[in-house]
Amino acid sequence: MALPTLLRFISLLLVSTASLISAVPEDALVSHLPGFNGTFPSKHYAGYVTIDKNHGKNLYYYFVESERNPEKDPLVLWLNGGPGCSSFDGFVYEHGPFNFKPGGKAGSLPELLLNPYSWSKVSSIIYLDSPAGVGLSYSANKSDYITGDLKTASDSHQFLLKWFELYPEFLGNQFYISGESYAGVYVPTLSAAVVEGIKGGINPKINFKGYMVGNGVTDTVYDGNALVPFAHGMGLISDDMFQGTNVACNGSYWNPINTSCEEKLSEIDLDLQDLNIYDILEPCYYGSASSDVVSHKSKLPSSFRRLGETDRPLPVRKRMFGRAWPLWAQVMEGHVPTWPELGSPSVPCMNDEVATLWLNNEEVRSALHAQPKSVTGPWELCTDNIDFSHDAGSMIKYHKNLTVQGYRALIFSGDHDMCVPFTGTQAWTRSLGYKITDPWRPWYVAEQVSGFTQGYDKNLTFLTVKGSGHTVPEYKPQEALAFYSRWLAGLAI
Ligand SMILES: *[C@@H]1O[C@H](CO)[C@@H](O)[C@H](O)[C@H]1NC(C)=O
Ligand SMILES: *[C@@H]1O[C@H](CO)[C@@H](O)[C@H](O)[C@H]1NC(C)=O
Ligand SMILES: *[C@@H]1O[C@H](CO)[C@@H](O)[C@H](O)[C@H]1NC(C)=O
Ligand SMILES: *[C@@H]1O[C@H](CO)[C@@H](O)[C@H](O)[C@H]1NC(C)=O
Ligand SMILES: *[C@@H]1O[C@H](CO)[C@@H](O)[C@H](O)[C@H]1NC(C)=O
Ligand SMILES: *[C@@H]1O[C@H](CO)[C@@H](O)[C@H](O)[C@H]1NC(C)=O
Repeated sequence: MALPTLLRFISLLLVSTASLISAVPEDALVSHLPGFNGTFPSKHYAGYVTIDKNHGKNLYYYFVESERNPEKDPLVLWLNGGPGCSSFDGFVYEHGPFNFKPGGKAGSLPELLLNPYSWSKVSSIIYLDSPAGVGLSYSANKSDYITGDLKTASDSHQFLLKWFELYPEFLGNQFYISGESYAGVYVPTLSAAVVEGIKGGINPKINFKGYMVGNGVTDTVYDGNALVPFAHGMGLISDDMFQGTNVACNGSYWNPINTSCEEKLSEIDLDLQDLNIYDILEPCYYGSASSDVVSHKSKLPSSFRRLGETDRPLPVRKRMFGRAWPLWAQVMEGHVPTWPELGSPSVPCMNDEVATLWLNNEEVRSALHAQPKSVTGPWELCTDNIDFSHDAGSMIKYHKNLTVQGYRALIFSGDHDMCVPFTGTQAWTRSLGYKITDPWRPWYVAEQVSGFTQGYDKNLTFLTVKGSGHTVPEYKPQEALAFYSRWLAGLAI
């Protein structure tokens, strides 16, 4: 054996011995992050899991160990929606371990400070970019970018199985799946795939316990009928508009029955069009300049200002994120349109400057164990790279199936979100017909009402978060950590 080959052989041996001693992949350990000077409060790991070798299909994850007791605390998977949105939205703007403080000069990197309300305070958490083509995940074969609900669920399931092979010491921890917005589809479909795997005896066996969905897309009819009563109850449309629409549409708004119904719905559309659909209390910015977002709160009445405030140390993004669908274009079976396809040049009311700057810096990418831009393309909060079909139908059958089998479910809603309004979510959770075991009541953080909750048989909990928009932990970080930790621990919220 030539010497260099022998050396390589020995070093290979050393690597495999090392991986026997410590089961976690030490080469995935994140040692530093540009913008952060302190010590990490827990171990962070990141990298790719290849789910299809032939295609070169790689899903990116960032894994944060619990800052409390990673051996005992639950392990949670987090997914942002879109479809097409990166789970770095959750990491950067919602419940990740850091708060990102924008850099002083335009174009300079943000400073990272510890987030006192990180969900890693009470759980280990995996942020997964899914499907391939989203965030830092990619495939060498672009045909993979044509996908849908069912393929995404089976890919994410493959990811989990391979991830647990890399991190076998977490197989004993309680495992939960969570996400928001279009992840209202990802979460139940992936949960179903995981349960099927468990029943089919697939190894490794995942210790799956339940799931969480925030302002989640669920059902065309329930979600499509949610907006009119929401707008009426919130005082956004008049009694006359509401009653007139109700009569013309015969109480069903998702699929207008005739032209007079359509006309009434257009009136409402016109009335609501300048609101920020992700939080009716926040202003909406259509301009591209960042200067137009600075003094947003001053334009609001003071009562609104208080409601919109957050105890997150950094301001909530002024233009809210999300690629959902505008009014009357709710998610239907089939192709899910992108904003450009709907005639909007970009996602309305959205600001992703800090994350975009940070995740497109090559030094940051290298620290994150992500491929450079030349491989993945630029990181975007929500991408149009993928061609996505909604092919799993209504989620209600999934929720029934999972909860009947004893998996716990927490369904939460920021109550000022107009994108997936709580009215639809409350209606479909109630429609499951489970016995109410914890009647509607306020829940509290620091002796203040933080929202309302109703508990059902089968461990199904519906919960609202008072004064929050679409991305609950961004608006109400303290409250979000409170309900998250209580629910995970199986305590009353
Ligand atoms: C972090 O370190 C860099 C480089 O040493 C320094 O410029 C910066 O001021 C430090 N930031 C904090 C918050 O200490
Ligand atoms: C990409 O995948 C498709 C479907 O499996 C296959 O037909 C095609 O040959 C692949 N393309 C390349 C360049 O490998
Ligand atoms: C319910 O879940 C089980 C296990 O995953 C599956 O075999 C069954 O087909 C599901 N039933 C329905 C109606 O979805
Ligand atoms: C539309 O349907 C509603 C409810 O049935 C009815 O009151 C209304 O007259 C209809 N309008 C037209 C133009 O058909
Ligand atoms: C109006 O709704 C009622 C009750 O949902 C239904 O019985 C009736 O057929 C509907 N009428 C029309 C014209 O759609
Ligand atoms: C609900 O979940 C809790 C916590 O995991 C568990 O102790 C309890 O048995 C479950 N109840 C039902 C009705 O499944």
